[in-house]
Amino acid sequence: MTSGATRVGVVGGANVDLVIRCDDLPRPGETILGRDLVRLPGGKGANQAVAAARLGADTSFVGCLGTDENGEWLLGHLQRSGVHTTWTQRSSTPSGLALIPVDERGENLIIVIPGSNEEISLNSVPLEEFDVVLCQLETPITVVLEAARRSQRFVLNAAPRTSVPRELLEMCDVVIVNESESLTLDLAPLAHCVVTLGSEGAQYFEHGTLVAAQQPPRVPVVDTVGAGDVFSAAYAVCCARGDSPAEALTYAVTAGALATRGAGAQGSMPTDQEVRSWM
Ligand code: RIB
Repeated sequence: MTSGATRVGVVGGANVDLVIRCDDLPRPGETILGRDLVRLPGGKGANQAVAAARLGADTSFVGCLGTDENGEWLLGHLQRSGVHTTWTQRSSTPSGLALIPVDERGENLIIVIPGSNEEISLNSVPLEEFDVVLCQLETPITVVLEAARRSQRFVLNAAPRTSVPRELLEMCDVVIVNESESLTLDLAPLAHCVVTLGSEGAQYFEHGTLVAAQQPPRVPVVDTVGAGDVFSAAYAVCCARGDSPAEALTYAVTAGALATRGAGAQGSMPTDQEVRSWM
C-alpha cells in the first residue's frame, strides 16, 4: 500500500502559537526580556494533521476552531497544507492559544489556553472509516475515550502530561509519550509504547520491555516546537501503512529530527521523500 492510500484522522486541538525568542527560558519568579514575537499556526492536533498530510497520508482534522479571526486563519493554514477540514467544527468560543518562549538552543516552554478546542464533538464523524485515528490530550478526555472506542486502530500521543484513565490506555493500539510524560504512566500493561527522548531519539517497548531504540540524524536545530507532533504523526502514518514497529521508529525519529530545522511547529515539516532520503 502506498502512503497516499492511507486514511488518517487526527482528533485534537488547534492553537494560535505566540512564539517569543529569548536567550534563556525564564525560571519561576523571574522577568526576562524577549524579542521577535510571531504568530504561528499550532496545536498538537493541527500540527499532527499537517505533518501526516506532508508525509503523504490522506488526512482529516477533527477539531473545533473559533469563529474569530484566529479560527479563520487556522482553517486557511490547514486547508493550504492539504488537510481535509470536512469535520473541522466552529464555535463562538475564542480559538485555542499557546504562549511559547523559545531559547537560543531551541528549547521551549508552552502554556495553552484551550478555548474552542473544548467544544469539539464527534457526533456524525465517521471515525471507523480511517485506517488510523491519532489523538492527543488537549481536548476533553470524554472525546478522546469516544474516539478510542470508535476507531479501527487508535494511536494516542499522551501529551500534554496529565493522568490518563486506565480504560483509555487499554483501548490504544500504540501510546506515544515523551520522557517526562512517561514518568506518570505504567508502561508494563501497554502492548506497544514509544518513548521519545528529544535529541537522543526514541525507544519502543512491548509490555514494558525495551525492544528497539533509534538515534536521530544530526541536524542544526532552530526550534524543537512541534517535533514531537511530527514524530507522532509519522509513527501513526507508518501504523496505517502496516509498517513494523522498528520501521516506524526509524521513520518517525528521522521525521521528528528534520522538523527541528525551521521556526514554528508547522514551519519545517518534512515530506515522505525527505524522510526517506535521510534514513
Ligand atoms: O506540541 C507543540 C504544540 O503544543 C504547540 O503548537 C502548541 O500550540 C501546543 O499545543
